[in-house]
Amino acid sequence: MKVLHVAAEVFPLVKTGGLADVVAALPPALAARGADVRLLMPGYPAVLDAVRHAKPVCVLGPLFGALRATLLKARMPRTDLPVYVIDAPYLYRRDGNPYLGPDGQEWPDNLQRYAALGYVAAHLGFGELDEAWSPDVLHTHDWHAAMTSAYLAAHPATAAASVYTVHNLAYQGVFPHDDARLLGLHARFMQPAGLEYHGQLCFMKAGLKFADRVSTVSPGYAREIATPAFGAGLEGVIQSRGSDVVGILNGIDDAVWNPATDSALAACYAPDAMAGKAACKAALQAEAGLAARPDAPVFTVVSRLTSQKGLDLVLAVLPELLRHGAQLVVQGEGDPSLESAFAIAAHAHPGAVALHVGYDEARAHRLIAGADMILVPSRFEPCGLTQLYGLRYGTVPVVRQVGGLADTVADGHTGFCFGEATPFALQGAVERALAAFGEPARWQALQQAGMAQHLGWDGPAQAYLALYDDACRARREQPR
Ligand code: ADP
Ligand code: GLC
Repeated sequence: MKVLHVAAEVFPLVKTGGLADVVAALPPALAARGADVRLLMPGYPAVLDAVRHAKPVCVLGPLFGALRATLLKARMPRTDLPVYVIDAPYLYRRDGNPYLGPDGQEWPDNLQRYAALGYVAAHLGFGELDEAWSPDVLHTHDWHAAMTSAYLAAHPATAAASVYTVHNLAYQGVFPHDDARLLGLHARFMQPAGLEYHGQLCFMKAGLKFADRVSTVSPGYAREIATPAFGAGLEGVIQSRGSDVVGILNGIDDAVWNPATDSALAACYAPDAMAGKAACKAALQAEAGLAARPDAPVFTVVSRLTSQKGLDLVLAVLPELLRHGAQLVVQGEGDPSLESAFAIAAHAHPGAVALHVGYDEARAHRLIAGADMILVPSRFEPCGLTQLYGLRYGTVPVVRQVGGLADTVADGHTGFCFGEATPFALQGAVERALAAFGEPARWQALQQAGMAQHLGWDGPAQAYLALYDDACRARREQPR
């Protein structure tokens, strides 16, 4: 099975969230099961700098405003998997966040930048760009890669099968309808049965409508997005795909997130040798400027600071945490009002609350290893990876019972869950967690149960291979 993954992020080259972790870990897991897997990425500076042995495959010619565009073939660092890179300097040679300019606003030409990604992906799928290789299945991730399926649908006779994975329905890639003329697609694609969305254009809809199969990153979220509460206006489209939409839970990349081998930590540890975790906690308290109290329950948050993540609830229960002698260490960036609310809390409670605004991968590992509990009180969560990292690191998750969080944390067994997105409900879960923390044998049992959970990528990779088979069958039976 030849599979091309198409995505806008991949760890460690370009990462704004969990998407990058998944795109880094799933392809090698598929390759380990015998698939012939490649990746297609935009040529951001960080990608061009990091890939190895880059060679031109073909000239792409003028591409969505870029006069010069070349398709390169290279090797990924770390995994050595083949990666195609679209080197179109006018579109992609910009440092920093892939989607936002230095002013924090979306790049004004994101429509062209990510239509180009889908366009090149589809042409690889037609077998036109690389004489030596063409995919059986294109696996596209999130709105950035979703246009692939529309371009494939424009030439169904020669198209490979496609699978579209929704990592987060809240980011849809919506553009003015007038920009449709830039896409080079027939007008029928711009109707409600295509990309049209409340008078605008929606890239996410291209994936949802035209991919042979649609997946999302947990079974819980797959059910939720068919309802108005979680469907972000696309629930009707999702319902119309019926059993074509499946949920496959993300895994953990063992090579990156493993307390027994993690080079970012002050000390390594494992389920049968937990002493290193206490050393990590002491090191974290020192690094974050928290009081050096081995007995204090330490909570952490490692998160994008957006309304999705429900961190206003953490602020609301903070007085209660402090009343119990707990400490809180937060790392994140995003919404300025959340950043300043946590900064005020850290200022008001030196030694008990610490904040690091910014993105720091190694520090994220030290927070997750050194804390006793990780808080993930999301309003919605397609899968969530930090609670999985918590489970793997013996750092007990306290999560809202939603999406992938509900699918991965067992209340009272591996972590603590709460239902309503209210401070009162979170407080109840935190109090139960603190009570358990006060009973060492109980706590150890919780940590051990979490650390024993199977969270790798092998199971998910097997499920994706079955989905690819399904997509190929659908394509053979139903040429569109
Ligand atoms: P999402 O993709 O919605 O942000 P996930 O839980 O799936 O949520 O993935 C978040 C990923 O980003 C994890 O790998 C987490 O460790 C990482 N992360 C989030 N914020 C930061 C930060 N400020 N510094 C370092 N890593 C972060
Ligand atoms: C998205 C979701 C997150 C998920 C990640 C990887 O960013 O918000 O829940 O874990 O994608 O699939």
